[in-house]
Amino acid sequence: MFLHCFWAMLITGTILDLRPAGPEYFVLRAHAPQVVQHAAPGQFVMLQGWGEQDPLLRRPFDFHRLDREAGAFEVLFKVKGHGTAMISRLRPGDPLSVLGPLGRPIPFHEAPKAVGLIGRGSGVSPMFTIAEEVRRRGGRSYALVSARSPDRLLCVDELRPFCQAVWTFTDDAGGGAALRQALETLVRDEALDAVFTCGSNRLASLVAQLGQEGHFAGYAFMDAPMACGVGTCKGCVCRVRRDGAGYRYALACLEGPVFPLSEVLIE
Ligand SMILES: Cc1cc2nc3c(=O)[nH]c(=O)nc-3n(C[C@H](O)[C@H](O)[C@H](O)COP(=O)(O)OP(=O)(O)OC[C@H]3O[C@@H](n4cnc5c(N)ncnc54)[C@H](O)[C@@H]3O)c2cc1C
Ligand code: FES
Repeated sequence: MFLHCFWAMLITGTILDLRPAGPEYFVLRAHAPQVVQHAAPGQFVMLQGWGEQDPLLRRPFDFHRLDREAGAFEVLFKVKGHGTAMISRLRPGDPLSVLGPLGRPIPFHEAPKAVGLIGRGSGVSPMFTIAEEVRRRGGRSYALVSARSPDRLLCVDELRPFCQAVWTFTDDAGGGAALRQALETLVRDEALDAVFTCGSNRLASLVAQLGQEGHFAGYAFMDAPMACGVGTCKGCVCRVRRDGAGYRYALACLEGPVFPLSEVLIE
């Protein structure tokens, strides 16, 4: 197996910008040209922005944007606990420890025709680099952005220039059923090659189910707890189907974080 973390490096980057993106959500922009140079959609970084021992471990984040000209990347994150709260308090000019790029890049079809992108909450973050790449390859993207409430719908305006259409769904407006219907219509009318989903096991299961019935390849970003990001701690296992019968354990940091839904078990 080719390990993409071969390119991973540990560097000290610099925070260029840190701005709120919604309740509890932030976008961090950092200068880290050595990491950005080798990074691709679907990969992630482990970040640490504190000089103390607590928390001990870096925290994983998907690439939201890759700006190769500026040598900068962005991550979009939700404040969950101690680590993300500390990162949210950093300031432009502060140093940032960056380990990456990690994980496998997305296996893009050489010439994708139409791709569905489904993100919930901060799970919309990695959809931006995918939409950008699909457009670069001459394909069309359709984004379905889901959230608990309207103020938590992220990146909608940002995605529009890169997508054929962007639809939003919120729980307080019966979003689950409406999203399912919209996806079924898309699959029927647009002959999607692939659908990527991030941020919700429920939505990943829906894509897996429709993928079995339809003719597209479904993929999910697996949000497994990660302590090291490079295959050492064995803390990020996911079950994947084995050829023939049964299943095996895969490390999400090495074989993922993006897995084909025909292989990975959503649990
Ligand atoms: C490959 C990968 C990419 C990720 N990308 C993003 C991203 O782009 N944006 C973003 O907002 N988040 C992302 N996450 C999740 C993010 O890493 C966690 O929210 C973060 O590590 C929590 O750290 P903390 O110190 O703030 O919280 P902790 O104090 O460590 O935990 C606080 C709470 O969050 C829960 N938690 C911790 N890690 C996770 C996790 N991985 N999934 C679900 N719950 C968790 C804990 O169980 C606990 O209840 C990603 C995770 C992975 C594995
Ligand atoms: S995060 Fe340590 S093995 Fe995957």
